[in-house]
Amino acid sequence: MSADPRPRVLVTIPLFAEVLARIGAHAEVDAPCGTGLAIDWTPEALAARARGAAGLVVAGTPRIDAALLAACPGLRAVCSMAVGYNNIDLPACTAAGVLVSNAPDVLTETTADFGFALMMAAARRISESEHFLRAGRWTHWSYDLFAGADVYGATLGVLGMGRIGQAIARRGALGFAMPVLYHNRSRLDAAVEQQLGAQWVGKDELLARADHLVIVVPYSAASHHLVGAAELALMKPTATLTNIARGGVVDDAALAAALRERRIAAAGLDVFEGEPAVHPDLLAVPNVVLTPHIASASLPTRRAMADLAATNLIAVLAGSGVPPTALNPEVLARRR
Ligand code: DGY
Repeated sequence: MSADPRPRVLVTIPLFAEVLARIGAHAEVDAPCGTGLAIDWTPEALAARARGAAGLVVAGTPRIDAALLAACPGLRAVCSMAVGYNNIDLPACTAAGVLVSNAPDVLTETTADFGFALMMAAARRISESEHFLRAGRWTHWSYDLFAGADVYGATLGVLGMGRIGQAIARRGALGFAMPVLYHNRSRLDAAVEQQLGAQWVGKDELLARADHLVIVVPYSAASHHLVGAAELALMKPTATLTNIARGGVVDDAALAAALRERRIAAAGLDVFEGEPAVHPDLLAVPNVVLTPHIASASLPTRRAMADLAATNLIAVLAGSGVPPTALNPEVLARRR
């Protein structure tokens, strides 16, 4: 039993020392990962460690659900340093009076940079050709050696036109003279469409017309396998697909088959169903660039994400107003 009378905060992820110290000025910090290696929390281990905590700091994992909330009746805040919060059962948290925050905005440009880089790497076959070179197989020049697809002037398709989708569209339209098509459940205002040079189309039309499709939709039951075999069949054989959204939005097995059979040209994937495991069929195809969920990983951006999570948490613990990126601020009003 701790003698510290302050609220306890469980930090479930490795975190910057300075951010741990910021939280430590307001709470007793339990940081089992310190600044080092992540823990693969089982639900039981997490519930045991979180019992008695007033706050949790998380990222895209672990899962925060009704069972965990029931085990932690004193919990007041779950603050994520990720923008995507599909690991958090928001309605259950709201019902339990637990404030939830995520970390939007601060990662938008960094994530868009990475999405664009991944799309270009897939189009221009950068990983595939580097492996070839490193394997000592480069012996001759040939006019079609790793010839890929053009990006400049090609049609960019954005599936999911939130903040990151719009930042990708801007890069395509302004930097690469790309006509931009997008599909989103709700259309952007006409003025924003005009500013981005982006045209809304139906999902099937987007798939059929895009030279380079970039997927940026949040994961939910509605977006599970939003792109599967039927959707891939609509794409051009010369097209690329880039997924920086969440694993599960794309059917990875169907995508691997489409890549293997060259029904689409290439893909760039930063997120996977069941990650950190990667579907073995994806590992076996050469025409896919694979990265370990690092789209937001520049140090300044990761620091800003962590700081935002800490700012939200401290606002709840100190009772000093509405946390800046609260997802359910109504729970605070209920507590007054
Ligand atoms: C996010 O913030 O949602 C990114 O995917 C990093 O986890």
